[in-house]
Amino acid sequence: MKNLLSVAAFAGLCLLLVAPVQAEGGNIAAGKAKAGMCAGCHGTDGNGVASNPLWPKLAGQIPAYLDKQLHDFKSGARKDPIMSGMAAALSPVDMNNVAVYFASLKTSPGAAKNEELAKEGGKIFRGGDAKTGVSACMSCHGPSGLGIPPRFPRVSGQNAAYTEKQLLAFKAGTRSNDGDIMTRIAFRMSEQEIKAVAQYMAGLH
Ligand code: HEC
Ligand code: HEC
Repeated sequence: MKNLLSVAAFAGLCLLLVAPVQAEGGNIAAGKAKAGMCAGCHGTDGNGVASNPLWPKLAGQIPAYLDKQLHDFKSGARKDPIMSGMAAALSPVDMNNVAVYFASLKTSPGAAKNEELAKEGGKIFRGGDAKTGVSACMSCHGPSGLGIPPRFPRVSGQNAAYTEKQLLAFKAGTRSNDGDIMTRIAFRMSEQEIKAVAQYMAGLH
C-alpha cells in the first residue's frame, strides 16, 4: 500500500514537472510557424544572434513569462520600439503559441567574460546586499537562475549586455511592467553591481 502510494505520488510529481508548458494550452507547432519572423533577432534556435547581444535569448524561458512580455509590449506596459511593432502583429493565441514554442527550445550555455566581476556578482545573486537592502536574486530566480514558474523568469545563460540593459531600465523606471518588484530592487543597486550580477548570470546554468 505504501509503495502504491509513493508510486502515485511520484506519478503526480512527474505530471507537475511536465505540466508548465502544457498548462499554457499553447500549440508548439503553430508557435514555430509564427516564429519565422522572430528568427532574425532571436535566432533560429531561440538563442539570439552573435551580432547583437541586446537581442535576448528566448529559448528555455518560462512560457507564462514570455506570454506576459508579449502582452505588455502590445499594450505598451513595456516599451521597446522594435518589440512593440512585433507584438502588435500577434493575437493572444499567437502569443501563447510562440511562448510555448520558445520555452520548448534548449537554452545554449552562456559564459562570463570577466571572471573578477562575475565573482562579485555571484555574491549579490546568492546573498543580496544587506547594506543597501538589495534582495538575493536567487530567492525568486532560483539557485541556478532557471526561474520559478509562472512569474519569475529564467535569468541564467542570458546575454550580459541584455541583462544589464534591463536592470538599468528597471533602475531608471523606464521598464516598469514588473509589479514594482524589480524596480525597487534595481533602484538600490549601483551600476557596478548591475554589471557584476549580469556577468555572473550569463555564465550560470
Ligand atoms: C528586429 C529584431 C527583433 C525581432 C524581429 C523580434 N524581436 Fe523580440 N526582442 C528584440 C529586442 C531588441 C528585445 C529587447 C527589448 C528590450 O530591451 O526591452 C526583444 C525582446 C523580446 C522578448 C522579451 C524577452 C525577455 O526576456 O523579457 C520577447 C518575449 C520577444 N522579444 C519575443 C519576440 C517574438 C515572439 C518575435 C517574433 C514574433 C520577436 N520577438 C521578434 C528584438 C526583436
Ligand atoms: C521578489 C522576487 C524577485 C527578486 C528577489 C529578484 N527578482 Fe528579478 N524579477 C522578478 C520578477 C517578477 C520579474 C519579471 C517582471 C515582469 O514580469 O516583467 C523579474 C525580472 C528580472 C529580469 C528581467 C529578465 C528578462 O528576461 O528581461 C532580470 C534581469 C532580473 N529580474 C534580475 C534580477 C536580479 C539581478 C536580482 C537580484 C539583485 C533579482 N532579479 C531579484 C522577481 C524578482
